[in-house]
Amino acid sequence: MPLKTAENKAQEPVILAIESSCDETAAAVISGGRQVLSSEVYSQIALHVPFGGVVPEIASRSHIEKIDLVVQTAMRTAGLDYSQLDAVAVTQGPGLVGALLVGVNYAKGLAYGLGKPLLAVNHIAGHIAANYLAYPDLRPPFLCLVVSGGHSHLVEVREEGLSLLGCTQDDAAGEAFDKAARVLGLPYPGGPNLDRLAQSGNPEAYKLTQPKISGAYDFSFSGLKTAFINLVHGMEQRGEPYSKADLAAVFRHTVVTHLCDKTIKACQDKGWRALALAGGVSANSLLRARMAELCEKEGITLYVPPLSLTGDNAAMIGAAASLQLQSGDTAGMDTNAVPALSLRFMD
Ligand code: KG4
Ligand code: ZN
Repeated sequence: MPLKTAENKAQEPVILAIESSCDETAAAVISGGRQVLSSEVYSQIALHVPFGGVVPEIASRSHIEKIDLVVQTAMRTAGLDYSQLDAVAVTQGPGLVGALLVGVNYAKGLAYGLGKPLLAVNHIAGHIAANYLAYPDLRPPFLCLVVSGGHSHLVEVREEGLSLLGCTQDDAAGEAFDKAARVLGLPYPGGPNLDRLAQSGNPEAYKLTQPKISGAYDFSFSGLKTAFINLVHGMEQRGEPYSKADLAAVFRHTVVTHLCDKTIKACQDKGWRALALAGGVSANSLLRARMAELCEKEGITLYVPPLSLTGDNAAMIGAAASLQLQSGDTAGMDTNAVPALSLRFMD
């Protein structure tokens, strides 16, 4: 996505946004809720690879080390002075408490020192708002499939607020991808590595039953995860050779079919003609391709953020924060990190 220069920002409110909920230290400057003046992401992946997953203490320490540099770089790239900011936004949750606290305290200190409003943003609302950056003309209402490491939600996005249409009854899609990747011995981060390996596999080489769940728009991944573990361990115990690429392809195909079936059914039943994808798992290449095919067949307009906006970043936090600034939803200096913060729904 091309970055706009500071001159383009006209009189739109300018927000510095900070994200530190997991393993990315990020800062971005957003103008008018839709224009990205700068977006810096420092990824901690290399630090966590030796441990096969995110180590919370290492994540917190790295955020502390990097946050000042990342924020200063975002401001310099945007070509702005701190006095030109209208507000400071930060991810309040959900996420790792120690990691969140770094961003929350930094943002509080900055907002207080500058005398600017503080905006406390829900990370998942940020993922949804990433679509506003990618598609400047996108307006509610639309249906959004939010699929990340901790969430698998079907959310109806309206001007008045959000409604929850369905969600996972157990594990999140990202969690399932990460677990399956671990079973195959793939390095962290599991989801993207499994996706890559699956490109060269045959999705019909093995049989995995589609998840069954009674809620029409709900998801379930834990049974599938167990079935996959049993399939792999069974072959190992019998000493049968197997193809990791085929297994990755079968698992990815089963998860994507479940996500697509439920989402398209929701569109058909509820009459949704606009669908957006959000969250880390929306980077999955098969999910993007399959959903595009189905939406085309059904006459549904599909919004898919570019890969730079599917993973964790601060630009999306700035986009969500801008909506909060418009509605006067500012936060006080008593704001704390909330690791299990849930999305606010209307009903
Ligand atoms: O949104 P995100 O970056 O962080 C959270 O808010 O949770 O999502 C991270 C999740 C991880 O589980 C990661 O494995 C998964 O998204 N993920 C993928 C892909 N890229 C990231 N899963 C499947 N295929 C991918 N290409
Ligand atoms: Zn995320």
